[in-house]
Amino acid sequence: MSDGAPIASPRPGEVIISVRGLKVGFGDHLVMDGLDLDLYRGEVLGFVGASGAGKSVLTRTILGLIHKQAGTIEVFGHNIDKLTPREHLEVGERWGVLFQEGALFSSLTVRQNIQAPMREHLHLSQSTLDGLAAQKLALVGLPPDTADKLPSELSGGMTKRVSLARALALDPEIVFLDEPTSGLDPISAGDFDDLIGTLQKTLGLTVFMVTHDLDSLFAICDRVAVLGHKKVIAAGPITELLVSDDPWLKSYFHGKRGVIRLSAGAERPAMTAGDDRSKNVGR
Ligand SMILES: Nc1ncnc2c1ncn2[C@@H]1O[C@H](COP(=O)(O)OP(=O)(O)OP(=O)(O)O)[C@@H](O)[C@H]1O
Ligand SMILES: [Mg+2]
Repeated sequence: MSDGAPIASPRPGEVIISVRGLKVGFGDHLVMDGLDLDLYRGEVLGFVGASGAGKSVLTRTILGLIHKQAGTIEVFGHNIDKLTPREHLEVGERWGVLFQEGALFSSLTVRQNIQAPMREHLHLSQSTLDGLAAQKLALVGLPPDTADKLPSELSGGMTKRVSLARALALDPEIVFLDEPTSGLDPISAGDFDDLIGTLQKTLGLTVFMVTHDLDSLFAICDRVAVLGHKKVIAAGPITELLVSDDPWLKSYFHGKRGVIRLSAGAERPAMTAGDDRSKNVGR
């Protein structure tokens, strides 16, 4: 992209994930090269970029699921390369993940899926686990009888909610959401945004959300980081990014197949750069 200076609105607060000089690739295919990113405690950070740019790979690399070739990742102030296995496990208890593909275990019930991270990290009785699973289901707005269903019996929106319930299983400080509203109808997507916004506030979560959904960027994201050319090329409030002169950002948001035009074709109302919707405004 741009030869100009990246947008980087300063935001006070504790950095709880700091990525510097990240390089990740597969064989001779370099996906990220020199990527820097900060995640601040308590924020909802939207993460956007073209399909295949590396958003899911970055998420998985931060989670330690993909090997990095270079760079540092600090989580809660600790370099993840220097953590002992026990510290790794402890960090794993402080974040939860909703993977892009949902990734529920197909042979387990919803209740067992939600309990899977609890079984891995906690030593609790079955009745306590059942109580906790019921709480998490209620938290994401699903009726109690969902607990006995198999993933194949759920709608797309229910699957997202169950995946979110599982991401919240260990009462994490950070949740990673990889395209949580993709495939949902506009109303369900809006409801899901509201749910994330409410949970973020009530639970004090920090949210890292990969999305192509402009409405989500407006409705719940404090900042948006843009992945392009193997780096984060801009980070700031969506209203700033939308009025940027940067050619890459202009093309991404306003181009022929840009996010704004795609959004205009959907039922969720399209917004313009001047539309300064505040957080969690209903639609
Ligand atoms: N395990 C893997 N092995 C080899 N290549 C991979 C692997 N995982 C991802 N890639 C490649 O890395 C690149 C980035 O993929 P990634 O899934 O991160 O894209 P994305 O930005 O999340 O796209 P989308 O918006 O479509 O989800 C792609 O070229 C993909 O083919
Ligand atoms: Mg992806």
